[in-house]
Amino acid sequence: MIKKIAFLLSACVFSLCANAQKYEELALTPQMGWSTWNCFAGNIDENMAREMADAMVQSGLRDAGYIYLNIDDCWHGKRDSLGFITSDPVRFPSGIKALADYVHSKGLKLGIYSDAGRKTCAGMPGSFGHEYQDALTYARWEVDYLKYDWCESENINAKGAYTLMRDALRAAGRPILFSMCEWGDNKPWEWAAQVGHSWRTTGDIYNNFDGIDDRGDWKAFGVMQILDMQDTLRKYAGPGHWNDPDMLEVGNGQSVNEDRAHFTMWCMLSAPLILGNDIRKMSQQTKDIIMNKEVIAIDQDSLGVQGLKAEANDGVEVWLKPLKGGDWALCVLNRSTEVKSYELNWQRFNIYDEVSKRHTGFYNTVYSVRNLWTKKSQGNTKKDVTLTIPAHDVVLYRLSVLKK
Ligand code: GLA
Repeated sequence: MIKKIAFLLSACVFSLCANAQKYEELALTPQMGWSTWNCFAGNIDENMAREMADAMVQSGLRDAGYIYLNIDDCWHGKRDSLGFITSDPVRFPSGIKALADYVHSKGLKLGIYSDAGRKTCAGMPGSFGHEYQDALTYARWEVDYLKYDWCESENINAKGAYTLMRDALRAAGRPILFSMCEWGDNKPWEWAAQVGHSWRTTGDIYNNFDGIDDRGDWKAFGVMQILDMQDTLRKYAGPGHWNDPDMLEVGNGQSVNEDRAHFTMWCMLSAPLILGNDIRKMSQQTKDIIMNKEVIAIDQDSLGVQGLKAEANDGVEVWLKPLKGGDWALCVLNRSTEVKSYELNWQRFNIYDEVSKRHTGFYNTVYSVRNLWTKKSQGNTKKDVTLTIPAHDVVLYRLSVLKK
């Protein structure tokens, strides 16, 4: 009898493990939304979250595709006597379920945050040892997205910890997008396609275009530093499993050129577009950047192939991204601190892309050229162009096949 029970138990555990998988239908294009962290850090509460939900609708962000409202670190209260996590009774007195209801009533989805370790990065209770309980709680609250961090994770195996939470989310029965935030420490791109819907590739971004902020035991990175860590990872990304170069700093005080370049490069990378600015008060310039539909379409292109760096010379980079239906995005980035003049010679970019298995074929294909920031058509690829690009800015084209 005991043997039989043991057999049944192990068969059951085995079958659970064998069948467990992430929810495949989520993040078929990179997720888009807004998060509390970059602008507010731990200074959050439910009123502010509701105001943000309202702002996402009123500003047009929701209709532009930004549907996740993500509460990052510091929403937590204590665990109750049974070990279930609760929300902070002062900051979120109505509870997360009530917030989820409000967010859903606006046509948005709610994201929440936890950590695979014993504590979150801000010292709140982590999910270690409570994975199934926490996943069940999030599902009961009708949460739609979980960002899962990696603080206080000493001696924990990353693949094991993230797979455990994936299985817990699956068992909880609600399709919750699983955003892994392990900072690239254990090369998640090599093992996480079946585990999460996106994985952070680097340490944290900070509000700077080009620099490193040394904070003692860790470093935060500027936009260019993060960009430089993405190029070799492109083959690992695709529909349902994205490289995540961290949340956006657009609208947080960098110049309009820098914001445009930052946003463009994240779109060239097929990155999750998670805004990090105060969306209740945005300048028109910020809105024009983050809600440029043609630029967002580069990020959201259903082919789901991350862009490649085709050329880098004297502070100017040329990036290409294959798009569905034979189009390409071509971006010229001036990362230097001076205005640059650049001769764009199309024939120099006859490139075969190993990931999409496509050739740009400029030698026999003519493409129409549309400038996505000026929103103007600019002839075709039979004619070379001389560009003048301000410091820390980009030119972004969509190339569409005219004829072979
Ligand atoms: C880590 C993450 C950040 C943010 C903070 C919250 O640093 O990488 O994105 O979630 O924790 O404490």
